[in-house]
Formats: sequence, structure tokens, C-alpha cells
Amino acid sequence: MNKRAASVSIAFDRMTPADVERVLAIEQAAYTSPWTRRMFESELWENPFSFAYVAREEEQRRIVGYVLFWMVYDELHLMNVAVDPAWRKRGIGEELVRFAINTGVGRGIRMATLEVRTSNLTAQSLYRKLGFHQVGVRRSYYREPREDALLLQCEFDGKPEEG
Ligand SMILES: CC(C)(COP(=O)(O)OP(=O)(O)OC[C@H]1O[C@@H](n2cnc3c(N)ncnc32)[C@H](O)[C@@H]1OP(=O)(O)O)[C@@H](O)C(=O)NCCC(=O)NCCS
Repeated sequence: MNKRAASVSIAFDRMTPADVERVLAIEQAAYTSPWTRRMFESELWENPFSFAYVAREEEQRRIVGYVLFWMVYDELHLMNVAVDPAWRKRGIGEELVRFAINTGVGRGIRMATLEVRTSNLTAQSLYRKLGFHQVGVRRSYYREPREDALLLQCEFDGKPEEG
């Protein structure tokens, strides 16, 4: 059963190079084929379309999750979102995705897209809750293990999401 623990107060900050160590620890706990330090650093420094934010719990200001997305013209592509396993099921993942979408809608995006593993029912449940629907399948998109991706999409009418 997906029962939520008590929710937690979260603050969002742009991800900086100083955050990458902690982000990598969460990344490695979250994925079988995690992004490398180089991948995060190239997103932070070399990709003008890339936006990355960390979520900090407000008591000790520890990073408990992060979200990374691209915005190109009126489209947002969600590249990565993860929450520290010890902090899951408290609404943080949902807040991270809502934050990304609201940031995008505030800058005029009309559509958000993302890929998700076919086996990742937890993330799919989160995305469907936020209004994403399936528009395609990318065959053998992932490695370790090799797996298809579902391509999900959500359209906006220009107003930020509630919540
Ligand atoms: C996906 C992830 C970010 C969710 O973070 P989280 O903080 O635990 O999620 P939330 O507490 O905000 O839950 C939001 C919704 O997600 C879904 N969800 C979360 N945990 C779930 C679980 N264990 N089983 C089923 N659905 C789940 C539910 O729809 C939930 O809404 P509800 O609480 O109203 O039922 C987290 O599990 C994670 O980091 N996973 C590994 C990385 C990953 O898979 N990222 C997505 C790649 S596409």
C-alpha cells in the first residue's frame, strides 16, 4: 500500500556544483544505471536549456531530492527526478515535479514530456496523478536492465498547477 508518512516542509534552490556530491549519493540509491558526476556537471555548466533544483528539508537544510529538466521554446522535458529513499512517500517527489512544471508554465511552456521505465510503476503513478498521459513507447530506451520507455506528456493552458 502506498501510505504517505507525515509531509515535510521543503525549500527549493537552484542546484550548484557544491550540491553534486549529495545529489550523486541520492542518484546512486535511486537508479540501476545512475547519472555520473560528469553528466550532472555538464548539465549545470554546459547546457543553457537545463534547469536543476534541489529540495531541502527545512529543519537541517539537508538535500532530500532534486529535479532536472530542459526547457526548449514552449516545451519542458523532465530529465531526472529522485528523492532520498529515507524521505520517500512524504510528498516530496510530487512537490518536485509540480515545482518543475510551475517553473515552466511561469515561463510559457505549453507541454511537458518525459520517459519512464515500463516497470517503474511508482513514478508512473506520480506522473498520472499530475495529469501526464502516454503518447508513445521508445523501444529498448534504457540499459541495465534493457527496457522500453513509456513516453508521457501533459499539456497546459498557461495556468500554473494547483498545489
Ligand atoms: C518516484 C519518486 C521520485 C517518488 O517520490 P516520493 O517523494 O516518494 O513520492 P510522493 O510521496 O510525492 O508520492 C507522490 C505520488 O507518487 C506515487 N507513489 C509514490 N510512492 C509510491 C509507491 N511506493 N507505490 C505506488 N505509487 C507511489 C503516488 O501516486 C503518490 O501519490 P499519493 O501519495 O497521493 O498516493 C521516488 O520514488 C524516487 O526517487 N524513485 C527513484 C527514482 C525514479 O524512479 N525517478 C523517476 C524516473 S522517471
